Amino acid sequence: MILIFLGPPGAGKGTQAKIIEERFAHRQISTGDLLRAHRAGKTALGREAQSYMDEGKLVPDGLIIRMMEEEIKTSSNVILDGFPRTVAQAVALDQLANSKGWSLPQAILFDVDESVLMERLVGRLTHAASGRTYHSTFNPPVVAGLDDVTGDALIQRPDDKEETIRTRLAVYKDQTEPLIEYYDNPASGRLTSVDALGPIDDVTRRIERVISVREIPQRP
Ligand code: AP5
Repeated sequence: MILIFLGPPGAGKGTQAKIIEERFAHRQISTGDLLRAHRAGKTALGREAQSYMDEGKLVPDGLIIRMMEEEIKTSSNVILDGFPRTVAQAVALDQLANSKGWSLPQAILFDVDESVLMERLVGRLTHAASGRTYHSTFNPPVVAGLDDVTGDALIQRPDDKEETIRTRLAVYKDQTEPLIEYYDNPASGRLTSVDALGPIDDVTRRIERVISVREIPQRP
């Protein structure tokens, strides 16, 4: 089953996707991490995406859809973190699932009060190579400034500046929030809302409950 993690920047999608992928037979695909890897590798896509990302705007649909069709083509056992982000992307994803004979994607909406997002994002520390994230207060690494797994230095993402965060939040409202209505169709039951406030472990338990209702198998 294709599982979509939907929610505003800072809602905890990446944090939870990394935890859930370890427990369930589903691979996390983060569009943000993929794009950052393209940038680091100075690929044509990375160069094209750079200015949009730095300004907190969305990378054009055509580029994203091509990149994701390539990523998803072999297996539907994925957690999509940061995709789709526009109705055009959601339609393309449904078309891909239909063409493969997969069931239509299911979305989990991270329900979070907007007032916590700025604090979460300005305090975020990221391990650039893996996309693992920490928070200086809410989820600090064992050794300050260093990744728990590799010991590499953590960075602050360039788009985690207050002004860019404000743009990203506005872009979410304008272009991504309409997806709630797209998936929240009582007939198809494709959207479940999860309370994304409170300790990270509590949020994980709420997501696991949703996933077990949907009968996604655990890793052996
Ligand atoms: P992307 O990397 O996807 O950024 P985002 O959606 O803005 O999401 P974030 O990574 O900021 O938030 P998150 O929800 O994953 O939060 P996290 O778990 O890290 O995209 C970056 C850019 O790439 C976009 O602006 C765009 O330009 C481009 N892009 C990507 N996808 C695209 C697409 N589909 N179409 C077009 N363009 C695209 O948590 C945040 C912080 O909070 C962390 O520090 C964490 O430790 C902390 N935290 C997490 N949970 C909790 C909790 N329960 N309590 C307290 N703190 C918590």
